[in-house]
Amino acid sequence: MEIRTDFLVIGSGVAGLSFALKAASLGEVIVISKLGLTDCNTNYAQGGIAAVLDPEDSFASHIQDTLTAGAGICHPDIVQLVVESAPERIHELIDWGVSFSPKPGGAPPGENVFDLTQEGGHTHRRILHADDLTGAEIERALLERARSDPNIIFREHHFAINLITSGRIDPHSPNRCLGAYVLDTATGEIHTFLTPVTILATGGAGKVYLYTSNPDIATGDGIAMAYRSGCRVANLEFIQFHPTCLFHPQAKSFLISESVRGEGGILRLPNGTPFMAKYHPMAELAPRDIVARAIDSELKRTGEDYVFLDISHKRPEYIKERFPNIFRTCLSFGIDITQQPIPVVPAAHYTCGGVVTDSWGRTDIPYLYAIGEVACTGLHGANRLASNSLLEALTFSDRAFRDLASLPRPPL
Ligand code: FAD
Ligand code: SIN
Repeated sequence: MEIRTDFLVIGSGVAGLSFALKAASLGEVIVISKLGLTDCNTNYAQGGIAAVLDPEDSFASHIQDTLTAGAGICHPDIVQLVVESAPERIHELIDWGVSFSPKPGGAPPGENVFDLTQEGGHTHRRILHADDLTGAEIERALLERARSDPNIIFREHHFAINLITSGRIDPHSPNRCLGAYVLDTATGEIHTFLTPVTILATGGAGKVYLYTSNPDIATGDGIAMAYRSGCRVANLEFIQFHPTCLFHPQAKSFLISESVRGEGGILRLPNGTPFMAKYHPMAELAPRDIVARAIDSELKRTGEDYVFLDISHKRPEYIKERFPNIFRTCLSFGIDITQQPIPVVPAAHYTCGGVVTDSWGRTDIPYLYAIGEVACTGLHGANRLASNSLLEALTFSDRAFRDLASLPRPPL
């Protein structure tokens, strides 16, 4: 079957959905997803989304924290652009119906009303969250909104196999992206999706590792498709390991959010000894790569299988209210985190590199954009700062939309 549309969006996470919601004002958008719509990394995001909202905080500080975490190879202009766009992106999410956790006890009139949490590498509290289920809340709100837009059409269980480019069809014509070949996994048929604009929003590749926080969809398909079509890819060696995934034989990929450390969780050896202070002055709140390496080195030094993350010194009511999902999930594995420390290990978490884009999300192939975790925009350098990923996806979906809204789109 040949299907024509104004915009083809491959991926139904925060990048794809936020782009679709905007592009629907310009024409028909088809969003395809290789499993169900909520089978995406976005739906599992826990800690939150970083934005400077507190008057004590500053863009300069968020920029510096991002550059420091990125170990000297972030693109400073991109870091500034993303950090400065954060407050606007947050207000947009709220307008789309995302409900962030409010400050406990409320806020004085005129002040920031949201509870801002802390994560590794951040020198201020600047993470908005929806309890410990921020991604699920964002995915819910964006999907609800997109489902009510008659210009957005969803195709689940549609697996993009390869991009279609004019240069492949006729090497003498100017190259541009014309769409994608897509396998409908329910019927086994391959469909040809033709479109003037293709958006790769296929997420990262964490699932190429055996131990990962990522769901099964994260197999780097978008990076491979773009590479096969002639796009540059970069920084793929920088796979970020999250320091604290639950260690339990029955737990598949369950993350213990960095915000547990942000709210006072302590990393301990199985004998109870804390160890992070000897690795970094920020101890538990050092950037993620440093904490993950410290745990790895303790595991190798001691021969243990895991270390503990301990938040049991906090009030049980606080823990249950602040981390309801982590509390429930750990309890289902027999661990009461209000009383016991949590066994944790580092696991592959985030693909810092990807398809090279410019500051508008454009790839090397005209009319092929890459947004979200699939892209390498220059924001993360060698190591992403916690909670900058949802923000990056929103920033670049907005910029890709604005770029396309200002350009004539070619006929098919
Ligand atoms: P995804 O949300 O992964 O969506 C990818 C989409 O592409 C899916 O719909 C998938 O089906 C589709 N797809 C892939 N390949 C194909 C194909 N071949 N054909 C068709 N469709 C395809 N970041 C933060 O900023 N804050 C956090 O608190 C946070 N917590 C996290 C917790 C966990 C457990 C994980 C795994 C990640 C977390 N991250 C967090 C990272 C963040 O969630 C992701 O980087 C971000 O959600 C990626 O969004 P995306 O839209 O680019 O991709
Ligand atoms: C977490 O909640 O620890 C994940 C945050 C992130 O990946 O940005």
